[in-house]
Amino acid sequence: MSKKLAVLAGARPNFMKVAPLMAAMAEDSDLDPVLIHTGQHYDDAMSGSFLRDLQIPPPKHHLQVGSGTHAQQTAEIMKRLEPVLIEESAEGVIVVGDVNSTVAGALVGSKLGMAVIHAEAGLRSFDRTMPEEINRMVTDAISDLLLVTEESGRVNLLKEGHDEKRIVMVGNLMVDSLRRHLEDALKTDIVRRLGLEGKKYGLVTLHRPANVDDQEKLAEIVGALATISTELPLYWPVHPRTRARIQSGGLALPERIHLLEPLSYFDFLHMQAKAETIFTDSGGIQEESTVLGVKCLTLRENTERPATIEYGTNRLAGTSAGSILSAWDAVRGQNLRGSIPPLWDGQAGVRCHAALRKFFALPVREKSVVNA
Ligand code: UD1
Repeated sequence: MSKKLAVLAGARPNFMKVAPLMAAMAEDSDLDPVLIHTGQHYDDAMSGSFLRDLQIPPPKHHLQVGSGTHAQQTAEIMKRLEPVLIEESAEGVIVVGDVNSTVAGALVGSKLGMAVIHAEAGLRSFDRTMPEEINRMVTDAISDLLLVTEESGRVNLLKEGHDEKRIVMVGNLMVDSLRRHLEDALKTDIVRRLGLEGKKYGLVTLHRPANVDDQEKLAEIVGALATISTELPLYWPVHPRTRARIQSGGLALPERIHLLEPLSYFDFLHMQAKAETIFTDSGGIQEESTVLGVKCLTLRENTERPATIEYGTNRLAGTSAGSILSAWDAVRGQNLRGSIPPLWDGQAGVRCHAALRKFFALPVREKSVVNA
């Protein structure tokens, strides 16, 4: 009898992590992965287009929870997920990342007595005002198998008293997707369509509540970006949350800040790979820019992904106009050289698979042994 594992995905940054996991398990007759989409993100540009680009098999269940306050969204996912997990009699639930779908899945699975597996465990910004930090801490506290992307994750989990035997360094699933699809991504015509071939440009993304929900803070950040845009034209695919805030605040943008609709995975990878500098408050983009070797200024006071600074091309720029502009001054015109963090090599899915087999006491398969 194969072991049924529920794999949960809900929001845009989940899909690039779930894709290599599903692919790694696809050929294993001992495991039966069942993909469940919570519907936390639902626009085609935030969800459907990612499933297609990443060749993720259609989810067996779609919970269609949609948006809401944190409590509403988390509760709705829990209410709709519980009967599905019972119906499927899954033995384990795999959750990825740090979004509301992650913590909701971990809570439901663990209370049903199922094994909870968290991919991207142990990351900590030590900033509890970030909803993701709460999601990370709660999810890890109740997970049975903790799959870690970078050394800081392992250290944080050990400090929190987790048993070393439950922690496995597997590398970075998001990097698996990047390596698999970069060549195809570079074939899209997005850079040509925007008239940017051979030209220098900066790429902007902003969506953290702390940066965009407060009109004064958003205006301050945009003010700093406006100054930078006099030297480097900026292209900004706008997250729906941020677009709503820009509109409601009546924020005026200078000509050289170009707003775009959210981009597909391939178009966005292409834009990242060719950017001169990336300005972002995203977690995943700090990692992707590190692997692409593109300069990244993170518009936050902290990062839960210190490997991107230690090894990579990421620098913390803070969120005040002064700190952003001095971070820009420090890197403008410079060619930052970075290296790739250990195990960010495109084989994280294979290592997760090996760790899962070991966890469920399945015999080791030769194909799945890669440093796991
Ligand atoms: C969520 C995650 C965040 C992740 C981000 C990536 C949590 C707590 N936050 O934030 O960690 O970095 O996803 O995007 O889980 N909306 C749409 N269409 C959609 C989805 C959302 O228009 O398909 C709009 C809605 O107005 C919604 C708002 O965006 O209220 C915010 O969406 P939500 O899922 O609550 O959080 P994100 O800001 O996307």
